[in-house]
Amino acid sequence: MPTSPAPAAATLPDRLLEAADRALRALFAPASATRPAPGPAAGPLDDGQRRAAAQLMRVNHAGEMAAQGLYHGQALAARDPQLRAHLLAAGQEEADHLAWCRTRLSELGDRPSHLDPLWYAGSLALGVVAGVLGDRTSLGFIAETERQVERHLDDHLQRLPAADERSRAILTQMRSDEIVHGQQARDAGGLELPAPVRSLMRATSRLMTTTASHF
Ligand SMILES: [Fe+2]
Ligand SMILES: [Fe+2]
Repeated sequence: MPTSPAPAAATLPDRLLEAADRALRALFAPASATRPAPGPAAGPLDDGQRRAAAQLMRVNHAGEMAAQGLYHGQALAARDPQLRAHLLAAGQEEADHLAWCRTRLSELGDRPSHLDPLWYAGSLALGVVAGVLGDRTSLGFIAETERQVERHLDDHLQRLPAADERSRAILTQMRSDEIVHGQQARDAGGLELPAPVRSLMRATSRLMTTTASHF
């Protein structure tokens, strides 16, 4: 976690307005990356490879919409202003991931999931619940989410067509960022979540990844 001086506490109306602004941007403004998309210029893929890669990248784009919702919801409910600033900074890295997945989907001539607003809204609500349960639970929720995302990315890295170096480079950079996010949350005192909660989180993300790959 950054050790810069604690930001001034914002009032609840301020925080709600900021949260609404972040939500509108996530849903309706194209995500802008602060880091260029990793990877070489895309090599030629045949139609089957292109479709297979696009299906995976659509799922990853939906996952990053969900990450935006989670971080925004948790930031809204965080009690400690320094934790809130940290969540928003990590959220900006997730915005890079979102923008890279979107760029790659366009390069592959495909589209994001129609249900992206649903992933964002559902995750925002979940993030608020995690935040209301307390900062250490909220951090534990991040640590577990990032651990599950890391495993999910390992699976996608296996399944990507070998020729798709660009998507591979994007997912590889995302994976290392998610590992750092998870470690930071544990270092900041994140609690280990109970096994039933971890299973419920896995089931929810399976539902999302299956649905997002088709719709
Ligand atoms: Fe991410
Ligand atoms: Fe992350």
